[in-house]
Amino acid sequence: GLSTAAALSRHPSATGAELRSAVPLPPVYRTPLPLPPVLKPISTAGGVDRYAVTQREASLEILPGVRTPMWTYEGVFPGPTIEARRGRPVTVTHHNELPVPTVVHLHGGHTTAASDGYPTDLVLPEGWHDATHHQHEGHAMGAMHDPRAVVTKLTRDYTFPMIQRPTLLWYHDHRMDFTAPAIWRGLAGLHIIRDDAEEALGLPTGSRELPLVITDRAFDGEGGLSYPSLDPDLRSRPGVREPYLAGVLGDVILVNGAAWPVHEADAARYRLRVLNASNARHYELEAITDDGRRLDLVQIGADQGLLAVPVTHVTLPIAPAERYDLIVDLSGVPVGGRVRLRNRLGSGRTREVMAFHVVRKAPDPSRIPPVLSHDLPTWDRSDAVRVRDFSFRAGRMHGGHGWLIGGLPFDPARTDVTTRLGDVEIWRFIADVHHPVHLHLVGFRVLSRGGEPPGPHDAGLKDTVSLRPGESVEIIIRFDGYRGRFLFHCHNAEHEDMGMMANLEIV
Ligand code: C2O
Ligand code: CU
Repeated sequence: GLSTAAALSRHPSATGAELRSAVPLPPVYRTPLPLPPVLKPISTAGGVDRYAVTQREASLEILPGVRTPMWTYEGVFPGPTIEARRGRPVTVTHHNELPVPTVVHLHGGHTTAASDGYPTDLVLPEGWHDATHHQHEGHAMGAMHDPRAVVTKLTRDYTFPMIQRPTLLWYHDHRMDFTAPAIWRGLAGLHIIRDDAEEALGLPTGSRELPLVITDRAFDGEGGLSYPSLDPDLRSRPGVREPYLAGVLGDVILVNGAAWPVHEADAARYRLRVLNASNARHYELEAITDDGRRLDLVQIGADQGLLAVPVTHVTLPIAPAERYDLIVDLSGVPVGGRVRLRNRLGSGRTREVMAFHVVRKAPDPSRIPPVLSHDLPTWDRSDAVRVRDFSFRAGRMHGGHGWLIGGLPFDPARTDVTTRLGDVEIWRFIADVHHPVHLHLVGFRVLSRGGEPPGPHDAGLKDTVSLRPGESVEIIIRFDGYRGRFLFHCHNAEHEDMGMMANLEIV
């Protein structure tokens, strides 16, 4: 296992080699920032918001003048945003017109196991009725020996009670062994939960609240998305290509599906709801004015909703699948001035993310209240009934390289952790290279990082925590809500596909 880690450490980025695009790339900060469309419910009867989503191929103009074939939710990338109200259940019926089976998971969603998008609970496209066909298609591991593991349907209803804290969630593909290429091809969208209490805070709203879905991609000579391989047997091969093993990086940074966009802004406060939906790329964001001043990034929320009090950052690391709710104040920027959101971990054009072009002065009724929320869990060490240790490391799997949790690759037929509903536990992680670790169903708090108190970016309630090379992290969790089988895994999507996932059974 260590030899794999050693091989990876040769890469400058520590997460992998960057794919190079073969089409001419647009200049930075010219394309207007798009906003994902908001999905309309097909019904709101009975206090339930019902949505229908068709997953289909579409040819999209991601780079100006270039057509890129993608896999989409409703023909757009990112997929349409679902706007939910706390306390109003949401049901989403997914219909699959893609050429492959899919699975939908609402990342950060609090729901039953049946609606959680277990990696073998497939939504089959038409023409995949033949079970033998799909079994041969790539479920190499234990799935075939576990009769409960593969549950297929032509359409699937996912139900979300929406009783959790208001926050920015995202839905994305989660099919076993194939999550990374499916997300890369476009299967990701936002799902926002709101409530009256948050709206009463006076935070920037309307056109001054912007979702920012940051992803990197690379393009081939025809404008299609480059990807190392879609070979279903890839991960069992000794000669697996390194970019896939390390995590796939592209040389183009997209925000809401546009390359290095610019947003025409008022000289006012903005609420930026940032998601890193990249497969493997980490960013460290900073907001810089033309004259080199760094604007404060005032964090008001984490993965699972509002912080207790705002936390001010100068730069902000964000790992795959993490979300940060930020306020950036553009009021001191002169009309005609520009603020660039840059990535300190990038080089050349991957240092650039997007820009705000301040085009007018305007009144700003918004505020950042000194206290944001009162309902964060206050579990401490004495509440925990057990402590578990997990290593996240490279290792051998099925005769090739893979990524392991506690020395084991994912097996849907094996229960890795059994816990009881309502129990509070401490989980201790150690990692060889960067691994963003995500737990389904529950939020958690970071207790320590590298033996020290949590860092400034660990505040609040999270569902994904960034493990850095060699660093130990402790989290505290209460397993609330539902019994059943859920997952935890690395959210470097290629690592996830190459074994770094485990089963969590709540009894
Ligand atoms: Cu965002 Cu199990 O995933
Ligand atoms: Cu990982």
